[in-house]
Amino acid sequence: MEYKNLLVELDLPIAVVRLSRPKALNALNSELMGEVSQALAELEKNPEVGAVVLTGDERAFAAGADIKEMASAGAVEMLLRNQFVAWESVRSFPKPIIAAVSGYALGGGCELAMMCDMIIASETAQFGQPEINLGIIPGAGGTQRLTHAVGKVRAMEMILTGRPIKATEALEYGLVNRVVPVELYLEEAKRLAREIAGKAPVAVRLAKESVMRAYDGSLQQGLDFERKNFYLLFASEDKAEGMSAFIDKRKPAWKGK
Ligand code: CAA
Repeated sequence: MEYKNLLVELDLPIAVVRLSRPKALNALNSELMGEVSQALAELEKNPEVGAVVLTGDERAFAAGADIKEMASAGAVEMLLRNQFVAWESVRSFPKPIIAAVSGYALGGGCELAMMCDMIIASETAQFGQPEINLGIIPGAGGTQRLTHAVGKVRAMEMILTGRPIKATEALEYGLVNRVVPVELYLEEAKRLAREIAGKAPVAVRLAKESVMRAYDGSLQQGLDFERKNFYLLFASEDKAEGMSAFIDKRKPAWKGK
Protein backbone atom coordinates (compact mmCIF):
# COMPACT_ATOMS: atom_id res chain seq x y z
CA MET A 1 0.00 0.00 0.00
CA GLU A 2 1.07 3.58 -0.68
CA TYR A 3 1.03 6.10 2.17
CA LYS A 4 1.45 9.86 2.20
CA ASN A 5 3.46 10.14 5.41
CA LEU A 6 4.95 6.68 5.75
CA LEU A 7 7.25 4.30 3.95
CA VAL A 8 6.69 0.64 4.61
CA GLU A 9 9.42 -1.74 3.54
CA LEU A 10 9.02 -5.50 3.72
CA ASP A 11 12.35 -7.18 4.39
CA LEU A 12 10.96 -10.56 5.40
CA PRO A 13 10.68 -11.84 8.03
CA ILE A 14 10.60 -8.23 9.27
CA ALA A 15 9.05 -4.96 8.14
CA VAL A 16 10.28 -1.40 8.59
CA VAL A 17 7.73 1.37 9.03
CA ARG A 18 9.35 4.76 8.51
CA LEU A 19 7.60 7.96 9.60
CA SER A 20 8.10 10.41 6.76
CA ARG A 21 6.97 13.99 7.34
CA PRO A 22 10.46 15.47 7.43
CA LYS A 23 9.45 19.13 7.01
CA ALA A 24 7.54 18.93 10.31
CA LEU A 25 10.17 16.73 12.01
CA ASN A 26 7.69 13.85 11.70
CA ALA A 27 5.12 15.61 13.93
CA LEU A 28 2.40 13.06 14.50
CA ASN A 29 -0.78 14.47 12.97
CA SER A 30 -4.01 12.50 12.62
CA GLU A 31 -3.33 11.58 9.02
CA LEU A 32 0.10 10.15 9.81
CA MET A 33 -1.13 8.20 12.85
CA GLY A 34 -4.09 6.92 10.80
CA GLU A 35 -1.59 5.59 8.30
CA VAL A 36 0.50 3.97 11.06
CA SER A 37 -2.66 2.25 12.23
CA GLN A 38 -3.48 1.00 8.70
CA ALA A 39 0.08 -0.18 8.08
CA LEU A 40 0.18 -2.10 11.36
CA ALA A 41 -3.19 -3.71 10.58
CA GLU A 42 -1.72 -4.97 7.26
CA LEU A 43 1.46 -6.21 8.94
CA GLU A 44 -0.52 -7.95 11.66
CA LYS A 45 -2.39 -9.93 8.98
CA ASN A 46 0.76 -10.91 7.09
CA PRO A 47 1.95 -14.22 8.58
CA GLU A 48 5.37 -13.78 6.98
CA VAL A 49 6.10 -10.73 9.12
CA GLY A 50 7.49 -11.75 12.50
CA ALA A 51 8.56 -8.37 13.91
CA VAL A 52 8.42 -4.69 12.98
CA VAL A 53 10.86 -1.79 13.26
CA LEU A 54 9.32 1.67 13.63
CA THR A 55 11.65 4.51 12.75
CA GLY A 56 11.88 8.11 11.55
CA ASP A 57 14.91 9.73 9.97
CA GLU A 58 18.30 10.77 11.30
CA ARG A 59 17.13 14.20 12.45
CA ALA A 60 13.90 13.15 14.11
CA PHE A 61 12.09 10.04 15.18
CA ALA A 62 9.18 12.42 15.87
CA ALA A 63 9.00 15.89 17.48
CA GLY A 64 5.64 15.17 19.10
CA ALA A 65 1.96 15.30 18.36
CA ASP A 66 1.18 18.00 15.79
CA ILE A 67 0.89 21.25 17.77
CA LYS A 68 -0.63 23.09 14.80
CA GLU A 69 -3.44 20.56 14.65
CA MET A 70 -4.19 21.00 18.37
CA ALA A 71 -3.58 24.73 18.74
CA SER A 72 -7.16 25.90 18.32
CA ALA A 73 -8.90 22.87 19.85
CA GLY A 74 -10.80 23.08 23.12
CA ALA A 75 -11.25 20.35 25.73
CA VAL A 76 -14.52 18.96 24.38
CA GLU A 77 -13.26 19.00 20.80
CA MET A 78 -10.16 17.07 21.85
CA LEU A 79 -12.30 14.57 23.72
CA LEU A 80 -14.60 14.05 20.73
CA ARG A 81 -11.74 14.02 18.24
CA ASN A 82 -10.35 11.03 20.13
CA GLN A 83 -7.14 11.26 18.16
CA PHE A 84 -5.35 8.70 20.29
CA VAL A 85 -7.50 5.85 18.95
CA ALA A 86 -5.01 5.46 16.10
CA TRP A 87 -2.15 5.30 18.63
CA GLU A 88 -3.80 2.30 20.28
CA SER A 89 -2.80 0.28 17.20
CA VAL A 90 0.82 0.55 18.35
CA ARG A 91 0.02 -0.32 21.93
CA SER A 92 -2.09 -3.34 20.98
CA PHE A 93 0.06 -4.61 18.10
CA PRO A 94 0.53 -8.31 18.89
CA LYS A 95 3.93 -8.79 17.20
CA PRO A 96 7.17 -7.37 18.61
CA ILE A 97 7.75 -3.78 17.55
CA ILE A 98 11.11 -2.08 17.99
CA ALA A 99 11.65 1.68 17.83
CA ALA A 100 14.83 2.76 16.05
CA VAL A 101 15.35 6.32 17.29
CA SER A 102 17.70 9.00 16.02
CA GLY A 103 17.42 12.73 16.76
CA TYR A 104 14.31 14.11 18.43
CA ALA A 105 11.90 11.81 20.26
CA LEU A 106 9.87 14.49 22.02
CA GLY A 107 6.37 14.59 23.47
CA GLY A 108 4.22 12.19 21.49
CA GLY A 109 7.43 11.05 19.73
CA CYS A 110 8.89 9.88 23.03
CA GLU A 111 5.52 8.36 23.94
CA LEU A 112 5.33 6.54 20.61
CA ALA A 113 8.84 5.13 21.13
CA MET A 114 7.88 4.03 24.64
CA MET A 115 4.76 2.27 23.28
CA CYS A 116 7.11 0.04 21.30
CA ASP A 117 8.52 -3.05 22.98
CA MET A 118 12.18 -2.07 22.78
CA ILE A 119 14.16 1.01 21.79
CA ILE A 120 17.46 1.13 19.92
CA ALA A 121 18.87 4.66 20.02
CA SER A 122 21.51 6.38 17.95
CA GLU A 123 24.10 8.49 19.78
CA THR A 124 22.26 11.60 18.57
CA ALA A 125 18.87 10.59 20.00
CA GLN A 126 17.23 12.79 22.60
CA PHE A 127 14.15 11.90 24.58
CA GLY A 128 11.85 14.35 26.34
CA GLN A 129 8.35 15.33 27.34
CA PRO A 130 8.30 19.10 26.65
CA GLU A 131 4.49 19.46 26.87
CA ILE A 132 4.82 21.56 30.05
CA ASN A 133 6.32 24.31 27.83
CA LEU A 134 3.03 24.40 25.91
CA GLY A 135 0.92 24.64 29.05
CA ILE A 136 -0.24 21.02 28.78
CA ILE A 137 0.95 17.59 29.92
CA PRO A 138 1.74 14.39 28.01
CA GLY A 139 -1.43 12.80 26.63
CA ALA A 140 -0.31 9.58 24.97
CA GLY A 141 0.91 7.73 28.03
CA GLY A 142 4.06 9.71 28.90
CA THR A 143 3.34 10.27 32.58
CA GLN A 144 2.73 6.55 33.05
CA ARG A 145 5.20 4.83 30.74
CA LEU A 146 8.10 7.18 31.46
CA THR A 147 7.58 6.71 35.19
CA HIS A 148 7.54 2.94 34.77
CA ALA A 149 10.65 3.09 32.61
CA VAL A 150 12.88 5.52 34.53
CA GLY A 151 11.35 5.78 38.01
CA LYS A 152 9.50 8.58 39.77
CA VAL A 153 12.17 11.17 40.46
CA ARG A 154 13.64 11.10 36.97
CA ALA A 155 10.19 11.14 35.34
CA MET A 156 9.18 14.05 37.54
CA GLU A 157 12.22 16.07 36.52
CA MET A 158 11.77 15.33 32.82
CA ILE A 159 8.02 16.04 32.79
CA LEU A 160 8.07 19.08 35.09
CA THR A 161 11.04 20.80 33.44
CA GLY A 162 10.35 19.59 29.89
CA ARG A 163 14.12 19.19 29.44
CA PRO A 164 15.15 16.35 27.14
CA ILE A 165 17.80 13.79 28.00
CA LYS A 166 20.58 12.54 25.74
CA ALA A 167 20.87 8.97 24.49
CA THR A 168 23.58 8.08 27.03
CA GLU A 169 21.35 9.26 29.91
CA ALA A 170 18.40 7.36 28.43
CA LEU A 171 20.57 4.23 28.52
CA GLU A 172 21.65 4.87 32.10
CA TYR A 173 17.98 5.45 33.06
CA GLY A 174 16.86 2.18 31.46
CA LEU A 175 14.69 3.87 28.85
CA VAL A 176 16.49 2.32 25.87
CA ASN A 177 18.04 -1.08 25.20
CA ARG A 178 21.27 0.30 23.75
CA VAL A 179 22.94 3.22 22.07
CA VAL A 180 24.86 2.74 18.84
CA PRO A 181 26.58 5.07 16.35
CA VAL A 182 24.16 6.92 14.09
CA GLU A 183 25.18 4.89 11.02
CA LEU A 184 24.15 1.68 12.80
CA TYR A 185 20.94 2.34 14.75
CA LEU A 186 18.54 1.14 12.05
CA GLU A 187 20.68 -1.87 11.18
CA GLU A 188 20.93 -2.82 14.86
CA ALA A 189 17.13 -2.54 15.31
CA LYS A 190 16.62 -4.68 12.20
CA ARG A 191 19.13 -7.24 13.45
CA LEU A 192 17.24 -7.53 16.74
CA ALA A 193 13.89 -7.74 14.94
CA ARG A 194 15.23 -10.52 12.67
CA GLU A 195 16.56 -12.44 15.66
CA ILE A 196 13.14 -12.33 17.34
CA ALA A 197 11.30 -13.10 14.09
CA GLY A 198 13.28 -16.34 13.96
CA LYS A 199 11.69 -17.60 17.21
CA ALA A 200 8.44 -19.54 17.57
CA PRO A 201 5.72 -17.01 16.62
CA VAL A 202 3.07 -18.10 19.11
CA ALA A 203 5.58 -18.19 21.96
CA VAL A 204 6.79 -14.72 20.97
CA ARG A 205 3.24 -13.43 20.96
CA LEU A 206 2.39 -14.88 24.36
CA ALA A 207 5.73 -13.83 25.83
CA LYS A 208 5.03 -10.27 24.73
CA GLU A 209 1.49 -10.38 26.15
CA SER A 210 2.81 -11.72 29.44
CA VAL A 211 5.51 -9.08 29.81
CA MET A 212 2.90 -6.39 29.11
CA ARG A 213 0.72 -7.88 31.84
CA ALA A 214 3.51 -7.19 34.34
CA TYR A 215 2.25 -3.63 34.65
CA ASP A 216 -0.85 -3.34 32.51
CA GLY A 217 -3.58 -3.30 35.18
CA SER A 218 -2.63 -0.12 36.92
CA LEU A 219 -1.30 1.34 33.65
CA GLN A 220 -4.81 1.41 32.15
CA GLN A 221 -6.19 3.36 35.10
CA GLY A 222 -3.23 5.69 34.94
CA LEU A 223 -3.72 6.25 31.22
CA ASP A 224 -7.41 7.09 31.64
CA PHE A 225 -6.54 9.52 34.41
CA GLU A 226 -3.84 11.16 32.34
CA ARG A 227 -6.12 11.47 29.28
CA LYS A 228 -8.84 13.31 31.22
CA ASN A 229 -6.29 15.76 32.59
CA PHE A 230 -4.79 16.22 29.14
CA TYR A 231 -8.19 17.15 27.69
CA LEU A 232 -8.95 19.39 30.66
CA LEU A 233 -5.88 21.50 29.89
CA PHE A 234 -7.32 22.29 26.46
CA ALA A 235 -9.81 24.47 28.37
CA SER A 236 -6.99 26.63 29.78
CA GLU A 237 -5.78 29.98 28.48
CA ASP A 238 -2.21 28.88 29.03
CA LYS A 239 -2.63 26.06 26.50
CA ALA A 240 -3.81 28.55 23.86
CA GLU A 241 -0.90 30.86 24.72
CA GLY A 242 1.68 28.04 24.80
CA MET A 243 0.74 26.70 21.39
CA SER A 244 0.37 30.12 19.74
CA ALA A 245 3.76 31.12 21.14
CA PHE A 246 5.32 28.01 19.62
CA ILE A 247 3.81 28.73 16.22
CA ASP A 248 4.78 32.44 16.40
CA LYS A 249 8.30 31.44 17.54
CA ARG A 250 8.16 33.58 20.72
CA LYS A 251 8.30 32.97 24.48
CA PRO A 252 4.92 32.21 26.09
CA ALA A 253 3.50 34.55 28.76
CA TRP A 254 1.75 32.32 31.30
CA LYS A 255 -1.38 33.51 33.15
CA GLY A 256 -1.91 30.55 35.41
CA LYS A 257 -5.44 29.92 34.16
N1 CAA B 1 4.01 20.02 15.85
C1 CAA B 1 3.89 20.73 14.71
N2 CAA B 1 4.95 21.19 14.03
C2 CAA B 1 6.17 20.95 14.54
C3 CAA B 1 6.37 20.21 15.72
C4 CAA B 1 5.21 19.73 16.38
N3 CAA B 1 5.28 18.97 17.50
N4 CAA B 1 7.69 20.14 15.97
C5 CAA B 1 8.30 20.80 14.96
N5 CAA B 1 7.39 21.27 14.10
C6 CAA B 1 7.62 22.04 12.87
C7 CAA B 1 8.01 23.47 13.20
O1 CAA B 1 6.86 24.24 13.47
C8 CAA B 1 8.74 23.87 11.94
O2 CAA B 1 7.78 24.16 10.96
P1 CAA B 1 7.96 25.50 10.02
O3 CAA B 1 9.21 25.18 9.22
O4 CAA B 1 6.72 25.48 9.20
O5 CAA B 1 8.15 26.65 10.95
C9 CAA B 1 9.45 22.57 11.51
O6 CAA B 1 8.75 21.52 12.18
C10 CAA B 1 10.90 22.50 11.95
O7 CAA B 1 10.94 22.77 13.35
P2 CAA B 1 11.84 23.94 14.00
O8 CAA B 1 12.05 25.04 13.04
O9 CAA B 1 11.23 24.28 15.32
O10 CAA B 1 13.21 23.13 14.18
P3 CAA B 1 14.35 23.40 15.28
O11 CAA B 1 15.49 22.53 14.86
O12 CAA B 1 14.58 24.86 15.48
O13 CAA B 1 13.74 22.83 16.66
C11 CAA B 1 12.58 21.24 18.03
C12 CAA B 1 13.47 21.47 16.80
C13 CAA B 1 13.38 21.57 19.31
C14 CAA B 1 12.19 19.77 18.05
C15 CAA B 1 11.32 22.16 17.95
O14 CAA B 1 10.71 21.97 16.68
C16 CAA B 1 10.28 21.88 18.99
O15 CAA B 1 10.41 22.30 20.13
N6 CAA B 1 9.19 21.17 18.61
C17 CAA B 1 8.05 20.93 19.47
C18 CAA B 1 8.36 19.84 20.46
C19 CAA B 1 7.16 19.65 21.36
O16 CAA B 1 6.75 20.53 22.09
N7 CAA B 1 6.56 18.43 21.32
C20 CAA B 1 5.39 18.11 22.10
C21 CAA B 1 4.14 18.31 21.29
S1 CAA B 1 2.64 18.14 22.23
C22 CAA B 1 2.42 16.47 22.40
O17 CAA B 1 3.19 15.67 21.88
C23 CAA B 1 1.23 16.06 23.22
C24 CAA B 1 1.14 14.61 23.51
O18 CAA B 1 1.56 14.17 24.54
C25 CAA B 1 0.48 13.70 22.63
